[in-house]
Amino acid sequence: MINLPKSVNILESGPRDGIQNEKTFIPTAKKLELINALSETGLKRIEATSFVSPKHVPQMADATEVYQNMMKKNDIQYLALIPNLRGFELAKKAGVREMALVAGASETFNRNNVRMSVKESMRQLSIVIETAKEEGMFVRFSIATSFYCPYEGLVSQETVLAMVKELEEMQVNEIVLCDTIGRANPKQVYELFSRVLDQGSTATITAHLHDTYGLSKANSLAALHAGISSFDTAIGGLGGCPFAPGAAGNDSTEDFVFMLHEMGIQTGVHFEKLMDCVKLVKSMTKRSLMGHLQQITNKGHEQTVQ
Ligand code: COA
Ligand code: ZN
Repeated sequence: MINLPKSVNILESGPRDGIQNEKTFIPTAKKLELINALSETGLKRIEATSFVSPKHVPQMADATEVYQNMMKKNDIQYLALIPNLRGFELAKKAGVREMALVAGASETFNRNNVRMSVKESMRQLSIVIETAKEEGMFVRFSIATSFYCPYEGLVSQETVLAMVKELEEMQVNEIVLCDTIGRANPKQVYELFSRVLDQGSTATITAHLHDTYGLSKANSLAALHAGISSFDTAIGGLGGCPFAPGAAGNDSTEDFVFMLHEMGIQTGVHFEKLMDCVKLVKSMTKRSLMGHLQQITNKGHEQTVQ
C-alpha cells in the first residue's frame, strides 16, 4: 500500500527560485503584486526573495525593497534565501526573521553558485546559524545538488547524509534536499529521503524538486511515500538556477496541489485563487510556463478538486 500523509505543507518558492531565473528584470511592484496575491491563497510559507550579490543575480537586487513592502500576514512564514554572512547581515537589516540558507553538496556547483568551497560555505553559515538561533530566528538549510551536480554528475548519498547530520547537530529547524537540476529518479528520491528519516531527525525534512526531465511529480510521490510531507514548489512551474546549466522549472505549485487534493490530501490552499496567481505569473513573464494545469483550456478539472 502506498504510504500517504493526511496533509502536506507547501513552501511557495516562485518569487525567489522562480523569478531569479527570469532574464528580464521584473519590476518590484510586480513582484509585490505576486507575493501579495500568493498570501491570499491559503499558502502558509512563501520564499519571498534572496539576499545575494546584485552583480551575480540582478533580478534579486530589490530584496530589501520587496521584503519591506510586501503585505505580511501573521500566519504566513516569509523566508529569504541567504548564501553567506553578508547576505545574513543585509537580511537582518531588512527585518527578515526566517532565514533560508543554502550550500551545495557538490564542490563544483558550490564554487559556481556562491564562489566558495563547501567548507567555507559551512564555516560562514555555521556562524549565521548560531547567531540566528541565539536571536530566536527560524533557520532552514537547503542542500543544493543533493542528487546530481550539473558539473560532477551523481552525488553520493553518503555526502548528503553526512551534511544532514552536521546540520542536525547545529539544530537547524528545517533541512531541504534539493534536486537542483531535476535529474533524480523516483527510486533515488525514495531511497535518500528514507535514509535521512531513518537517520533520525528533529528538523523538518523538505523535498525541493525540479521538472527538467518531467519526473518531478513522480519524484514528489516517491518522497511522499518515504514519509515526507513538506515540499517546495513554484507557481506556474517557474524556476531554475542561473548557476546550474540546464535546470528547468520547479515542480509547479498548482499541479502539485491538484494532485494532492485529488488524492484527498489537504494543503489548505484555495485552488481557484492559486490559478489566479498563475495568470498573474503569465502576464509578468510573458512566456510559456512549464506547469500542466495552466495549459488546459477545458475547465472540467476544477470540479473534482476540494
Ligand atoms: N548580498 C549582496 N551583496 C553581497 C553579498 C550578498 N549576500 N555577498 C557579498 N556581496 C557583495 C560584497 O559586499 C562585495 O561588494 P563590493 O564589491 O561593493 O565591496 C561584492 O558583493 C563581492 O563580494 P564577494 O564576497 O567577493 O562575493 P562574490 O563576488 O565572491 O560572490 C556571492 C559571492 C555568494 C555573493 C555570490 O556568488 C552570490 O550572490 N551567489 C548567489 C547565487 C544564487 O543566488 N544562486 C541561486 C540560489 S541557490
Ligand atoms: Zn530550486
